[in-house]
Amino acid sequence: MTSTDQQPFLSIKDLKVHFSTEDGIVKAVDGLSFDLAKGQTLGIVGESGSGKSVTNLTILGLHDAARTAIEGEILLDGKDLLTASERELEQLRGNKMSMIFQDALASLSPYHTVGTQIAETYRKHTGASKKEARDRAIEMLRRVGIPQPDTRVDDYPHQFSGGMRQRAMIAMALVCDPELLIADEPTTALDVTVQAQIMDLLKDLQQEFGTAIIFITHDLGVIADIADDVLVMYGGRCVERGTKKQVLSTPDHPYTLGLLNSMPSLDGPVDVPLTPIPGSPPSLLNPPSGCRFHPRCTFAEKVAGDLCSTERPGLEVIDGRGSSCHLTAEQKQELFADFAATRHH
Ligand SMILES: Nc1ncnc2c1ncn2[C@@H]1O[C@H](COP(=O)(O)OP(=O)(O)OP(=O)(O)O)[C@@H](O)[C@H]1O
Ligand SMILES: [Mg+2]
Repeated sequence: MTSTDQQPFLSIKDLKVHFSTEDGIVKAVDGLSFDLAKGQTLGIVGESGSGKSVTNLTILGLHDAARTAIEGEILLDGKDLLTASERELEQLRGNKMSMIFQDALASLSPYHTVGTQIAETYRKHTGASKKEARDRAIEMLRRVGIPQPDTRVDDYPHQFSGGMRQRAMIAMALVCDPELLIADEPTTALDVTVQAQIMDLLKDLQQEFGTAIIFITHDLGVIADIADDVLVMYGGRCVERGTKKQVLSTPDHPYTLGLLNSMPSLDGPVDVPLTPIPGSPPSLLNPPSGCRFHPRCTFAEKVAGDLCSTERPGLEVIDGRGSSCHLTAEQKQELFADFAATRHH
């Protein structure tokens, strides 16, 4: 047993990612902490601009270092990625950790065949021969369900359909059996059938390889399908986290409640009216003081004094479950009761 067996596989501690721009400092991520164990899937959900992609690009070390101030810790298997050299990160990317994006065309080069791109990723990290790497590419294409992989391996990305390109990108991301896979809205652009196939594929591959997955999405239905744990982000911070069941069935933060009420129930009655969250996401150039959600929160007036607008609520996490809100547990129980009555499942 090594000392790292005690630690979660991935541990993010008080991460801050601030960009300097012409208009000022954008606090894209502002004090975010979470853990992820091997073989588990963490779903990250939150409105556009809440810092989901920035968090994950920072894990991979894919940020513009000159204009970015980063604080905190990102421990992968005990190693702090924020103090790692570019060379070390380069070694880890594609090998120990890899990422799939929404747009496969943007991450595949149009000038090289799909097979070459997968094979070269493999060769770079393993030193395999060209022949071995090509065989491996064919094997990966077969695994992700590309028909006739031994001929399609020589196709260029534009000869693949959108769904096939997404599979090819997954094949490339998984060719070195990464222990951490970050999937940033990987199925958003696909039709529902292909989306379901890709989700099944990821689940199968996770079973087989024990990969830890971070899955970023706007879609709580997708979260319900794939995640073990859920992290809800708002304005660069975590407002709530817990197991999928905890967060989706008994939300403990007004923002999570708002998200759930703004989408059709996952398996409850279909005639419950949908209520969008009023207002729009905060500016991260000049974010609201106190709780970042308070200007849009329908419950802020229930909290004594001006606590919501002056003090950042703490995030007390017990056994992986926690939320950051000034309401008391009793208040939440009472105020959120309607949700439980109409949608609880
Ligand atoms: N390089 C950058 N320079 C300045 N601001 C940035 C930079 N990258 C991201 N941002 C800002 O950081 C915030 C968080 O962006 P991010 O891309 O993480 O959001 P997101 O949660 O992934 O949203 P979406 O769901 O739309 O993908 C946004 O306000 C964005 O404009
Ligand atoms: Mg994003």
